[in-house]
Amino acid sequence: MRELQGRVAVVTGGASGIGLAMGERFAAEGMTVVLADVEEAALEAAVVGLAQRVPGARVSGHRCDVSSAASVRVLADSVLADGGEVHVLCLNAGVGSGATGRMWEYEENDWAWALGVNVWGVIHGINAFLPRMVGQAEGHVITTSSGNGGIAPLSSTPVYALTKAAVVTLTECLFAHLQDAGSAVRASVLFPGPKMLRTGLWTSGRNRPAVLAKERPPATPTPATVEDWEAQMRAAGMEPDYTPVEFVAAMVIEALGDGRFWILPASEDGDRRIQARARSMLDRTDPDYLRPFLPTDP
Ligand SMILES: NC(=O)c1ccc[n+]([C@@H]2O[C@H](COP(=O)([O-])OP(=O)(O)OC[C@H]3O[C@@H](n4cnc5c(N)ncnc54)[C@H](O)[C@@H]3O)[C@@H](O)[C@H]2O)c1
Repeated sequence: MRELQGRVAVVTGGASGIGLAMGERFAAEGMTVVLADVEEAALEAAVVGLAQRVPGARVSGHRCDVSSAASVRVLADSVLADGGEVHVLCLNAGVGSGATGRMWEYEENDWAWALGVNVWGVIHGINAFLPRMVGQAEGHVITTSSGNGGIAPLSSTPVYALTKAAVVTLTECLFAHLQDAGSAVRASVLFPGPKMLRTGLWTSGRNRPAVLAKERPPATPTPATVEDWEAQMRAAGMEPDYTPVEFVAAMVIEALGDGRFWILPASEDGDRRIQARARSMLDRTDPDYLRPFLPTDP
């Protein structure tokens, strides 16, 4: 999709971080932007802030919990009412899991929460929007994965990695289904990076619903702020280093322009991990390319 002016974009997880940066860039390109997010106060502030930063922006906020099929259906119904179209759909909302310790020590609620938002959120988006988008003359669905899981898992965050691997598989198959159906709508998968992003992901717990709360105190307490995470990284001998969210948004605009499926930034480390995993599979060797990250998942 080369022409964005006058088109409509919906971004889940749009109140913060990467989602907000994409929304802002879309608005600057002349698109009508709907930011959808579960965090109401942050959403209101995001809409006001975006409108101030992008003069003339057409932006609105819609409270939506992507882990709920009904909530995403309401979002789709409101945007697609009266023959409305969505041209760029970013299924981007995501959380860590808060899981700590070894995999067999995780709580069922850790799995349920992250799977609900990161995987079911994408499925609900596909179910609610695609039946009506599929016949449009143009359109693009972008899901947000991560190098962690999307390329190969960082072994200390398996819940998050699992969800991001699932997002890649879902999007690959969506791409094929759209092609098979002869639809003009395309699908792409985004790997934000190449480095980490200093976003709200590090404090994902702020949006954890009470029904999926932890039932016992975690073995390793999850840091409460991004600064606490950074202290933990430094203690593990790792200097925090980030990619700006604006870089990711620019990558998305470029990929929309050339219709690229893999929105995967150039990265020697990333390429090494892709090759090491493929090599291990082709050689039938143990997955010794796995490496830990931090002891807990945000
Ligand atoms: N930050 C990174 O380093 C990084 C790296 C790779 C991939 N990602 C992915 O990028 C995406 C955006 O994350 P971010 O880094 O901008 O973090 P963020 O916390 O700043 O943004 C995520 C947004 O999702 C929203 N959200 C959480 N639960 C929701 C729900 N149930 N329904 C609707 N919205 C919900 C949050 O309120 C927040 O606004 C996520 O899918 C994340 O996994 C992030």
